[in-house]
Amino acid sequence: MRSICIMNHKGGVGKTTTAINLAAGISRQDRKVLLIDLDPQGNIDLSLRVKAENNIYDAMTGDATLSSCIVNIAKNLDIISSTETLTKAEYYLYKQDDSRMMLKRLLSMIDGYDFIIIDCPPSLGIMNQNVLAFCKEVFVPTSTDFLGMDALKKMTKVIEKVNESYGNNCEITKVIPTLFDRRNKICKQTLEEIKQEFNGLASNPIRMNSKLKEAPKNGKSIFAYAKSSPGAKDYGVLVDDVLSMKSAA
Ligand SMILES: Nc1ncnc2c1ncn2[C@@H]1O[C@H](COP(=O)(O)OP(=O)(O)O)[C@@H](O)[C@H]1O
Ligand SMILES: [Mg+2]
Repeated sequence: MRSICIMNHKGGVGKTTTAINLAAGISRQDRKVLLIDLDPQGNIDLSLRVKAENNIYDAMTGDATLSSCIVNIAKNLDIISSTETLTKAEYYLYKQDDSRMMLKRLLSMIDGYDFIIIDCPPSLGIMNQNVLAFCKEVFVPTSTDFLGMDALKKMTKVIEKVNESYGNNCEITKVIPTLFDRRNKICKQTLEEIKQEFNGLASNPIRMNSKLKEAPKNGKSIFAYAKSSPGAKDYGVLVDDVLSMKSAA
């Protein structure tokens, strides 16, 4: 089972869009996927019209079982959503003894999936440190419309620290250039920088495409909403790339 988190402490770089469409795309290739929303602002439940009785925080605090949080939304695709405020969850975590291992302990019970994909909140706080203590792979969506390289370097440091402290071997295995506009000079420059700096880790760029914005408003992934759009094409290429990677798990 591959465990992948979609993380960047910058907001608006395409994390949620990537998590949803990657999960949907992979599940359409006959792999069983569990998509976990850890971003209270991510609204994956709204974007995919999921109606869950319990959310991930209920399971973390012991108010619900993990299995009662799982909702099946399509063939091969299950979801755990998040609805509470992150502040509340982070506050709860801070009070626990082993506060950075809570999520790992919970998710280690999960079985029967080929992929767990986690959409992360835009921070490097305790929740994301929990994620890093559990996952083996980090995918970093990086906007090409501003220079976001500092964010990548900062994340690398946090990952190293969590690995050291919690005995994990999580690593960045994909940097995904997002919001790409070929006509924009900054976009082209940033894409080149990403390719140079993260030699071999950079995926195909995800172009700016209004269908990617419309799809969640219609409660659908890009593949269900506009399967011939540039957005579906770009995320389709990413899905094939991810499936052909040697699993870092
Ligand atoms: N490739 C894209 N083309 C057009 N709009 C996009 C694209 N990727 C993301 N968006 C839009 O940009 C906004 C931020 O994206 P989102 O995935 O929510 O970022 P994050 O989760 O990193 O905050 C959303 O409105 C989303 O629909
Ligand atoms: Mg998000």
